[in-house]
Amino acid sequence: MELPAQIDFDRNPPIATSDYDKTVRMVLPGYEAMQMMGLSVLKSQLPSTANLLVVGAGTGIELIKYAQSCPGWQMLGVDPSADMLAIAQSKIQQHQYGQRIQLVTGYTQDLPTTTLYDAATSILVMHFIPDDGAKLGFLQAIAARLQPSANLILVDVFGDKNTPEFTTNLDYIKHYWQEMGLPAQKSEELIEIMHHSVYPIPETRLFDLFTEAGFTFPHRFYTGFWVGGWVAKKI
Ligand SMILES: C[S@@+](CC[C@H](N)C(=O)[O-])C[C@H]1O[C@@H](n2cnc3c(N)ncnc32)[C@H](O)[C@@H]1O
Repeated sequence: MELPAQIDFDRNPPIATSDYDKTVRMVLPGYEAMQMMGLSVLKSQLPSTANLLVVGAGTGIELIKYAQSCPGWQMLGVDPSADMLAIAQSKIQQHQYGQRIQLVTGYTQDLPTTTLYDAATSILVMHFIPDDGAKLGFLQAIAARLQPSANLILVDVFGDKNTPEFTTNLDYIKHYWQEMGLPAQKSEELIEIMHHSVYPIPETRLFDLFTEAGFTFPHRFYTGFWVGGWVAKKI
């Protein structure tokens, strides 16, 4: 299958929008557990009333999960995909969370810096951004909108594509997808996306970017084959 060198994720999310909630749970090892771990990390650090920034909110999976668990939290979800946010908006209406969850179609850097958040999340987002200064800019835009000591939860595919470890994980994941019942064609599409439009970096590079963007104490709380989850603190 021929794919463009760089997919425009505003119009072409990596997984078909209508299938997203079902597919992501098949594709990402331990997706539900990862989301619960991220929530647990946040709950351990935040008071019962807090203001969260959810970057790459997508179909609203983490927004709804956090709202259900933490009635005192207010949230802003930002995402460039209007299609993904339309699904999030319908869930917000269904759960009557309109007073607590706002959505913005766009990028973090479009948000004003007058509101500083008590925590932020970026779950399965930054790996779509190249490491040519854009990943750093992405993290800096989040840091500029956080209170001092606020935590950032970041979950991404990670590693060095040119290492045997990465190739081995690729092999593991193909078998995992097969075991999960993912159709072979979908598996091939995802591998193509991985090769062309996902920009994983080794953990050491991630920690350097955290430092440069103004975060400290990075700590990995989750690993699912090639996907890692970290918490880091805004200085
Ligand atoms: C794989 S989905 C993750 C959705 C959700 N966070 C989850 O965990 O299921 C990635 C989302 O990031 C969004 N996205 C892509 N680039 C982004 C950027 N630079 N800033 C914010 N969101 C972005 C996409 O539109 C998409 O909705």
